[in-house]
Amino acid sequence: MLLVNPLLDLLQPYPFERLRTLFDSSDGVLPAPSDVTADVPAGKSRPREIKLSIGEPQHETPALIKAAVSANLDGLASYPSTLGIVALRESIAAWVARRYAVPLPDIATQILPVNGSREALFSFAQAVIDTRSARPTVVCPNPFYQIYEGATLLAGATPAYINTLAHNDFELDFASIADSIWADTQLIYICSPGNPTGKVMSLSTWQKLFELSDRFGFVIAADECYSEIYFEEGNPPLGALSVAAQLGRHDYKNLMIFSSLSKRSNVPGMRSGFVAGDAALIEKFLLYRTYHGSAMNTVVQAVSIAAWNDEAHVIENRRLYAEKFATVTPLISPHLPCKQPDAGFYLWAQTPIADTDFARDLYHQQNLVVLPGSYLARETNGINPGAGFVRIALVPSLEDCLEAARRIAEFCQSRELPPAETNSSDASLPPVQEKASDAASLPLPEGNGSGAVSLPPLQGEGRGGDGGNEPQARAKQ
Ligand SMILES: Cc1ncc(COP(=O)(O)O)c(C=O)c1O
Repeated sequence: MLLVNPLLDLLQPYPFERLRTLFDSSDGVLPAPSDVTADVPAGKSRPREIKLSIGEPQHETPALIKAAVSANLDGLASYPSTLGIVALRESIAAWVARRYAVPLPDIATQILPVNGSREALFSFAQAVIDTRSARPTVVCPNPFYQIYEGATLLAGATPAYINTLAHNDFELDFASIADSIWADTQLIYICSPGNPTGKVMSLSTWQKLFELSDRFGFVIAADECYSEIYFEEGNPPLGALSVAAQLGRHDYKNLMIFSSLSKRSNVPGMRSGFVAGDAALIEKFLLYRTYHGSAMNTVVQAVSIAAWNDEAHVIENRRLYAEKFATVTPLISPHLPCKQPDAGFYLWAQTPIADTDFARDLYHQQNLVVLPGSYLARETNGINPGAGFVRIALVPSLEDCLEAARRIAEFCQSRELPPAETNSSDASLPPVQEKASDAASLPLPEGNGSGAVSLPPLQGEGRGGDGGNEPQARAKQ
């Protein structure tokens, strides 16, 4: 018998693993993937794959970051410290003060570099959860970034989910959790801007959360890794530290934010982020991390300074996303109701048929990969709040996103799928900001008079795709 941690058996298959299984299955109507060309008209080759399923930034890594890597290679000669070099913590602290309009954080006690937000979100639960209490509980939004659940289970705690629903504009309804569960709660994960809904949590929701944290004594892990992807310069998403400061919570009691360069600066491979907040929590987290061995590579520390000190590349990055959302959302929303998110780079779009069937058949017919929403959520209070949605990551080039929109339209029309009117989790549609008629005024190919805008023709095969077969990229995102 293999003697391993039995908590490992509680982990759910990762969404991309489930997607691979889904794609390998056939409903008997469409061909199985091994025979996908059978679904393509004679004389045409299967179009190249476009992946909109994984939240991996694909804009180019800025030149200043690449230059900083080669300029700092000498750093490989020394072991890094877990606390990180002073210069890095200074540049992070200055960025935090600028971005969130809060007093300069104390670099000795309120800031800690981490190797991307993912590992920190995971390890934070291991440092916080006290398994000596009867039923340690961690509250998560639902649907959610899957690491929250894995971190919870491996820390020996039980997850409790709050469904975020379209009729409620994807707000967290804290009242859906009973006081008896709040009493057992030691940690809550907040994701704002949200993955997958893009929802930015409002000041009043934050206020309610701080009241609950004060009443029940739990810690708030605020995942803000999408905080820099927004659509209006000068109007960034509200951050947890800003709210805390506005509410006079200057010690950030029981609050930790998780931030990252991955999406902000297009460096998901660099693994660089930070946590900031309650000094008492940071002290314990630092202790945990010293043993865990998660000090940031010294080269990455130096490069991160250059990245946090520069906003020009971040503004350009936002411009590219804003252009894609303004152009592509009105083309998709007539078929799959969706709206431009508050922030982040996902469209959370309703499907006219089951989200899994939609994703599978779209892949088989159009070689286009989107993620079924139900894979990002757990059934709670009798519903899976991700069911009836797909997550569409607008991470490839504008050209590829337009091509993807064209394939979605073609797929829905070929299957005579009406736009979704209801979904299994919620009877009301999310507000659709742009209508098809608005799309005609965009600088795009002319509308075809049928309410849908005609899109550029299919690209030929073999153009620099995004490499690899994404559903096999199990450990990503
Ligand atoms: C909600 C959310 N949090 C955290 C992460 C992890 O990002 P990173 O570890 O690159 O900072 C991701 C990655 O996609 C995410 O979607």
